[in-house]
Amino acid sequence: MKGLEDVVAVETNIAYIDGITGILAYRGININDLMDNSFEEVCYLLVKGQIPSGDELEEYKRSLREARPLYDEVLEVIRACNKEADAMDVLRTAVSYMAQVDEDYTDNSMEASNRKAIKLIAKFPTIVAAYFRIVNGEEPVQPDLNLSHGANFLYMLTGKKPNSIESEVMEKDLILSAEHGLNASTFASRIAASTHSDIYSAIISGICTLKGPLHGGARLGAMEMLDSIGSLDRVEKYVNDCISNKKRVAGFGHRVYKTYDPRAKIYRNLAEKLDEDKPDITWYEVAKELETVVEREYVNKHDKPIYPNIDFYAAVTYKYLDIPPKMSTSIFALGRVSGWTAHCIEQYSDNRLIRPRAKFIWKIFDK
Ligand code: CMC
Repeated sequence: MKGLEDVVAVETNIAYIDGITGILAYRGININDLMDNSFEEVCYLLVKGQIPSGDELEEYKRSLREARPLYDEVLEVIRACNKEADAMDVLRTAVSYMAQVDEDYTDNSMEASNRKAIKLIAKFPTIVAAYFRIVNGEEPVQPDLNLSHGANFLYMLTGKKPNSIESEVMEKDLILSAEHGLNASTFASRIAASTHSDIYSAIISGICTLKGPLHGGARLGAMEMLDSIGSLDRVEKYVNDCISNKKRVAGFGHRVYKTYDPRAKIYRNLAEKLDEDKPDITWYEVAKELETVVEREYVNKHDKPIYPNIDFYAAVTYKYLDIPPKMSTSIFALGRVSGWTAHCIEQYSDNRLIRPRAKFIWKIFDK
């Protein structure tokens, strides 16, 4: 089956997705019911399999927060990166170096993999924010261990404490981006883990795969699309140009969801809330119009609509948070690293090498 569509490659207890009715659940809990939890609590749920008790959560939060600062050597590597580089490439490079200075580097035991998972989840935001600041000629901001994961990221990015709506949106963005079954980047991580490669290497496979424009890179595509449309009156023409040029609309369509992506609905509500908070900005209006026109035009063309996926309204919320498009895919990774680590640990705990077959096709090449 081309693109492994509908192929079941592994068994998992981490995410349940019903693409027909539009349901996503983490460890059996509907995503809608996790929106008031903290990202740290959701990480515990994904990695360890259940909602923590009060004491367990406090202990887990403490270890995540204490692990936020970067090793000096990693910061030096980030400083040495090309200032024009894609933030995903810098993240990949920093994680690769982080592995080599970790005392658990060569320890592939379950205990060490769990410790490394904490460091990965905790340090991703510090890496991404530090690179952003360095590129802009500013010094990295030290993490504030009293802030939530999301609020601390925005603080390290801007040097200013975010307001309560901004903090809420960032926290929810991390939760919504955290996990989505056997998506391409998670599959890549699991394949690496199935070879008994270490968790850092498996996570780097995930970063490299998330980057592509058909996967997490669609968030960048959607932000650039919003910028190029610019205003309500240009939406109709943009969509018609996409149709005539057979160009895909970034942030629309999905391999699994044949209905509205449940995460897109939550992001849409968050974008609406930000729109009320920042009434002089109109991205939400442009996005709603784009959604209406895409739905109408693709029904006309294909007899079936295409719906927004997670990346479309995530891109809209990022516009309100003033996040530069170049950073958007790496911010997706801040959430998704929790899902990747959960899947690697699940793979290690009941492993069989993932090794499918390819069908050989005869082909004569012209000389
Ligand atoms: N714009 C226009 N047409 C589309 C789009 C789109 N965004 N998505 C699907 N279609 C059409 C496609 O042209 C095809 O039409 P036809 O049957 O006439 O050739 C039909 O829908 C089926 O498309 P497909 O490529 O066979 O579907 P797929 O399951 O292989 O692709 C997808 C899924 C996500 C790659 C695709 O919808 C896409 O390219 N979307 C834009 C990029 C994007 O938003 N990616 C993020 C995906 S969700 C988050 C994530 O996993 O990271």
